[in-house]
Amino acid sequence: MGVKKEARLRGRFKEDISESVQRYLASAPYDWRLYRQDILGSQVHAEMLARQGIIPRGDYVKIKDGLHSILKEIDSGRFQFKLELEDIHMNIESRLFELIGETAGKLHTARSRNDQVALDMRLFAREAAGKVVAALQGFNSVLVEIAEKNIKVVMPGYTHLQQAQPVLFSHHVLAYFQMFSRDISRFESCLSRINIMPLGSGALAGLPYPVDREFVAGKLGFDDVSANSIDAVSDRDFIIEFESASAICMMHLSRLAEEIILWSTAEFGFIEIGDAYATSSSIMPQKKNPDTAELARGKAGRVYGHLLAMLTVMKGLPLAYNRDMQEDKEGFFDTVDTLISSIDIMCGLVASTKINAARMKYSMQSYILATDVADYLVGKGLSFREAHDVVSRVVSYAIGNNRELNELDIKEYKGFSKMFEKDVLAITLQKSVEARSSQGGTATAEVKKSIESAKVAVNGYARQKD
Ligand code: ARG
Repeated sequence: MGVKKEARLRGRFKEDISESVQRYLASAPYDWRLYRQDILGSQVHAEMLARQGIIPRGDYVKIKDGLHSILKEIDSGRFQFKLELEDIHMNIESRLFELIGETAGKLHTARSRNDQVALDMRLFAREAAGKVVAALQGFNSVLVEIAEKNIKVVMPGYTHLQQAQPVLFSHHVLAYFQMFSRDISRFESCLSRINIMPLGSGALAGLPYPVDREFVAGKLGFDDVSANSIDAVSDRDFIIEFESASAICMMHLSRLAEEIILWSTAEFGFIEIGDAYATSSSIMPQKKNPDTAELARGKAGRVYGHLLAMLTVMKGLPLAYNRDMQEDKEGFFDTVDTLISSIDIMCGLVASTKINAARMKYSMQSYILATDVADYLVGKGLSFREAHDVVSRVVSYAIGNNRELNELDIKEYKGFSKMFEKDVLAITLQKSVEARSSQGGTATAEVKKSIESAKVAVNGYARQKD
């Protein structure tokens, strides 16, 4: 983008703005991304002005057609953005002057860039929230398929990254289904606050024209019009909320990425990611690096950064509009791009991953069944605390003698408590899993129920799209 002198809006000043100041002020290098929203908003605004008799209908038609030509110019890459015109709004308006002459000056009747930019950002955020929800729904559908296909696979469940209790692999997968379901509902909820129409607030105080805000809101698909003109031009909560929901979602993706990275190591070997999502080392040919997952984990940091930046930009601003707010854009656009690409890449990565069920099973030491042995004693009448104490002594004895729990004989067990009977030797991984049949637990029957309700949700997504 070149820099030239620009006279528009500088009528009362004697000195010209320097090139470096122009560059500093300009948002056109990034807010060009709002062009579709800006043009659509202007077309509907002009239509409303004509309906209300604020401008002649003939002028509206000229404005609408001019804007349509500009849309095509930008779509096809023929449009010349100028830095000296500051932002997307002024670039489009200036081109409209070139195309239709002085009539273009009527478009900005009953409007300020302050309510205009708020409108554009809301339209952009609305579309972005829809795309995020669709991407997450796609991911959730894949997770349900994986959970259903691998219902028989048992893996070690962890706390503190120490083997804790055996769980179904599907149960673990469905934990992410739950996280992403909450992410979906966060974005849907955020959408209800995004979808409020700010145009008609003017610079801050409202307008001295008989505007029809409901008409504009209706045409642009908004749920409501904003209630306070000062708030409407100074509020960026909807962006902060979006970025906050994005940060949480990136955190979920990052945890999943971390597990994928860990599980694909030689030490774990639980999974092998698809070649299409792996990279190789420039010097160590044996390596299959999970760079895609590493980047999803890393990119969480930059999305957190955008959230913090925006909270900080806004915290000291007096009402109403301040130019600081222009700083909302780059971080927001990057948040949207990063989040959507991370969801899509992680979804493809997960779908490409092969599961090594045997490795999961054989990685489990018998000690993972220690809680089951304690629960066994509770079944025989001991309190859980007493049972815990007995079993910790059993485990310590077994480890000390380099034996697995199922290698001890019943005599040795009885040495720790008379309540042990032969059936203590019959505790298995599968039995441990099936015993955890409390609602939301890992027992196969419970997990199957979860799969069924997840499928109902997934079918609901499909219906939502129709
Ligand atoms: N580029 C500006 C922004 O993004 C548009 C609003 C400018 N309003 C103003 N009064 N200078 O915030």
